[in-house]
Amino acid sequence: MRIALCGGTGDIGTGLALRWTRDTPHEVVIGSRDPEKAREHAENYEDELDDRGIEGEINGFDNAMAADRADVVVLCVPAYHLADTIESIADGLDDTVLVSPAVGMKNQDGAMTYNPPSAGSVTALAAGAAPDGVPVVGAFHNLAAGRLADLDADLDWDVLVVGDDADAKSTVEDLTNEIEGIRALDAGPLAAAPEVEGLTPLLINLASNNDLHDLGVQFH
Ligand SMILES: NC(=O)c1ccc[n+]([C@@H]2O[C@H](COP(=O)([O-])OP(=O)(O)OC[C@H]3O[C@@H](n4cnc5c(N)ncnc54)[C@H](OP(=O)(O)O)[C@@H]3O)[C@@H](O)[C@H]2O)c1
Repeated sequence: MRIALCGGTGDIGTGLALRWTRDTPHEVVIGSRDPEKAREHAENYEDELDDRGIEGEINGFDNAMAADRADVVVLCVPAYHLADTIESIADGLDDTVLVSPAVGMKNQDGAMTYNPPSAGSVTALAAGAAPDGVPVVGAFHNLAAGRLADLDADLDWDVLVVGDDADAKSTVEDLTNEIEGIRALDAGPLAAAPEVEGLTPLLINLASNNDLHDLGVQFH
């Protein structure tokens, strides 16, 4: 499977690129608004894996080229730029599953609070911006990017997956379960995305108020 990480030059994209390349046989490509930046980051990821004796080819392109012919595109960009990013890659989306890990937040009275767009959630906003027939799945909202990118760290996290297209959800759940230490859980339809996205500011507040780092969720 070919997985494109648009904005894969950033924090969450780094961890997903490293873990998917280390743990799975899937092809990972990095997208950026700047293809040269994408190539540099892709090379850095390869070097990091190589230092650990892991061979893996990661290529970098501009976002549209990365998304073209990808089976799954993860939109690793800030929530407020998700719709623009979808528009910039729309022509190449064909039999593609779009994945949104994005959360809208704002700082209020010294705490991070959930700040969804008028669509109700960023996942719903992405679904509205996606071309007809392209399914959108929400996932990875509650991961801590720093720990994800630290290949020395063992993970013990659940990833909550939302969406209305059963096949697309199942594809994303399978890819998620292939990362060591992560379990995908079906969190319901797209309408349930606010509940999942809203956990992220809670995790950030818990981490900062209690001097904890890189919190995730795990359900027992
Ligand atoms: N960080 C986390 O722990 C974490 C955890 C779970 C979910 N998320 C979600 O994942 C998404 C990415 O988070 P992140 O922390 O990885 O973000 P980030 O590092 O701040 O940015 C990711 C990438 O987004 C691209 N970008 C920046 N401004 C943009 C714009 N105006 N238009 C299009 N692309 C732009 C940049 O790539 P180029 O310059 O290469 O184009 C950048 O490298 C967010 O929506 C966030 O809510 C983050």
